[in-house]
Amino acid sequence: MTNRPAQPRLETPDLLLRPYVPGDALAVVRVCSDRTVAAFTRTIPHPYSLADAEVFIQRVTSGWEAGTGAAFAICERWAGGVESDPIGSVGVMIDAIDVRGEIGYNMAPEHRGKGYATQAVRALCGWCFEGIGLRKLTAHYMTHNPASARVLERAGFRREGLLRGQAFKWGVAHDLVAVGLLREEWQPAS
Ligand SMILES: CC(C)(COP(=O)(O)OP(=O)(O)OC[C@H]1O[C@@H](n2cnc3c(N)ncnc32)[C@H](O)[C@@H]1OP(=O)(O)O)[C@@H](O)C(=O)NCCC(=O)NCCS
Repeated sequence: MTNRPAQPRLETPDLLLRPYVPGDALAVVRVCSDRTVAAFTRTIPHPYSLADAEVFIQRVTSGWEAGTGAAFAICERWAGGVESDPIGSVGVMIDAIDVRGEIGYNMAPEHRGKGYATQAVRALCGWCFEGIGLRKLTAHYMTHNPASARVLERAGFRREGLLRGQAFKWGVAHDLVAVGLLREEWQPAS
């Protein structure tokens, strides 16, 4: 048993962001099996197995209970209050000492270009600042990932630097752009 409150559900115009449940494992496999999801993220392997998904769900569930992070399954909101299976993921890893969080996200290829990641990231930012009182959010993206850069730019993140050779994916070193958003810069309605 845990004394932690239940992880909330967040809504955007098109999406429901909700905690993962064990039954999401197959949907997680469908999203994370896309090669570009693995290519642009540090820890997602390729190919991606059902066991990988089960470990992921277990890890993020424990992370919420430990207060070290929160991961949300991104689902489409359909008419009649029905929601889709997860089509993407957004989450934050919390540094309690510095009262800040590092965010990450992905979206299934067939749902890209609809503004969904932007909606999800903005909803996560709002909750991080207004719901759990974080002071700063950070993110990192590879220099050849313009879609991720755009999502963060639209949420208000500002470039803070270039980390040379910071990521090492599939035998290749990649520079990472570091961006950040301070609570006082956050603009909920923009
Ligand atoms: C990054 C990712 C989450 C974006 O998801 P999405 O739902 O398509 O994002 P959105 O539709 O909200 O916004 C994407 C923006 O990038 C732009 N974009 C997409 N591809 C682009 C490209 N090749 N060059 C420039 N801009 C691009 C889109 O036009 C859109 O901007 P706009 O709203 O101003 O038109 C998705 O591409 C993905 O899952 N990629 C693989 C995993 C990943 O990169 N995760 C982030 C790691 S840092």
